[in-house]
Amino acid sequence: MDSPRIHSFFFFFFFFCLVRSYASADLCANPPHSSSGARDLSIFHANSKCSTFSPPTSLPIDQFQTVLSSAAKDPSRLIYLSSLVAGTKPTTVPVASGQQFMQTNNYVLRAKLGTPGQLLFLALDTGSDAAWVPCAGCSSCPAASASFSPPSSSTYKTVDCASGWCPQFKGPACAAAAQAGSCGYNVSYGGNSFFSATLSQDTLRLAHDMVPDYVFGCVNSVTGGNSMPKQGLLGLGRGSSSLMAQSLSLYQGVFSYCLPSFKSYYFSGSLRLGSVGQPKIIRTTPLLLNPHRPSLYYVNLTAVSIGRGIGRVTVPVPPGSFDFDPQTGAGTVVDSGTVITRFVGPAYMAIRDEFRRQVSSSGNYSSLGAFDTCFATTGDLPVTPAVTLHLTGLDLTLPVENTLIHSSSTPLACLAMAAAPDNVNAVVNVIANYQQQNYRVLLDAANSKVGFARELCN
Ligand SMILES: *[C@@H]1O[C@H](CO)[C@@H](O)[C@H](O)[C@H]1NC(C)=O
Ligand SMILES: *[C@@H]1O[C@H](CO)[C@@H](O)[C@H](O)[C@H]1NC(C)=O
Ligand SMILES: *[C@@H]1O[C@H](CO)[C@@H](O)[C@H](O)[C@H]1NC(C)=O
Repeated sequence: MDSPRIHSFFFFFFFFCLVRSYASADLCANPPHSSSGARDLSIFHANSKCSTFSPPTSLPIDQFQTVLSSAAKDPSRLIYLSSLVAGTKPTTVPVASGQQFMQTNNYVLRAKLGTPGQLLFLALDTGSDAAWVPCAGCSSCPAASASFSPPSSSTYKTVDCASGWCPQFKGPACAAAAQAGSCGYNVSYGGNSFFSATLSQDTLRLAHDMVPDYVFGCVNSVTGGNSMPKQGLLGLGRGSSSLMAQSLSLYQGVFSYCLPSFKSYYFSGSLRLGSVGQPKIIRTTPLLLNPHRPSLYYVNLTAVSIGRGIGRVTVPVPPGSFDFDPQTGAGTVVDSGTVITRFVGPAYMAIRDEFRRQVSSSGNYSSLGAFDTCFATTGDLPVTPAVTLHLTGLDLTLPVENTLIHSSSTPLACLAMAAAPDNVNAVVNVIANYQQQNYRVLLDAANSKVGFARELCN
């Protein structure tokens, strides 16, 4: 063989190997163990092709429309969050009525349950404690992309009604009497729809870790018109039934997440469980425990300011708008299930007015869905004033891409924040997904702190 032929042979061989390695790489798989020991799982948008086995038929291409339609469900999310009052059963789980996916189901991860592990998709939710999965044999469940089969797991067991776990899931059957048998419960999820589940235990496998005897609900049937979400739910709240409480020896009650940007539907962010590998350089604010709503991650928001440098104005909000109140549950929470940041009505109005005052647009603002401060971005680009959230010990000046949402079809930008609905029973402000893009958010209940570090999440 002469040398040009050898060259071309090696060239094609190399090319073949390259193509093969791309084809075999599972872009949705969890990342390998990192050298730092960080325990990372990939997280995806619910509509991403990684969240289901088969790609959805219509992919959300337009970021603006996606955020617009997701944010429309925020009010029901806020009602859910405010219903999480200690000692009472939330009226409904955060499932948007008539939707294919849950209110909380913005981000999903891949986990395995049972022995051998069965692959499942779980929506991660910092506002829920309990976990549940659709179980095999549930004929009324939607054609799930993946369901869990208890008989195929050698480590599966049901939780007895007499178990201390049962009341934590507030199963009405168990509350009724000291019944024998397994703990069954019904969860309403909007309108007259509810699902029935059996409280169960099995080994939860998260990337390279195992949480033995993890307690979750196995959904057996669905009643009512509203379609149940296809994915299961992984509760990452602060309550006693959450993953964090059930894995204290493994993860010490510490985790962080970096949410993929809304612009990048095909990319993954990460959930990092445990204290190992968390960012060393991170600005933090105290994490507050509100006994009225013990599942939620509260921080002390003290003020909001608009603008930069000497032009920065601390927005005069009505006194008490942001106050943390253990009696009523009022305050500010960091949430992974609300799309855009929400402030109590009068505070939002004041923030918006100051923002509008500083945007050098023509003074014409329009409303679009949840957004009431949209302005044209043709011609001279208006100045975008910086929005800073002042938390105890930490000023969070949001990057422009976390403040505004752009529509390219009609050249338009909107302030990506809104007022909390009026019908929420105690005021709650929410620092939401859109404002958390490209931040690593550290929720460290062990050391009572919440950290924010800029990071490219995708
Ligand atoms: C759940 O609802 C079904 C149908 O209404 C009922 O038969 C069952 O007893 C309920 N279970 C519990 C635990 O409340
Ligand atoms: C929140 O910050 C304000 C202002 O610094 C302070 O007065 C208040 O005590 C703080 N609240 C909590 C619960 O830490
Ligand atoms: C506001 O918009 C209208 C219609 O688009 C336009 O005619 C008007 O000049 C605008 N006002 C200002 C102050 O630019």
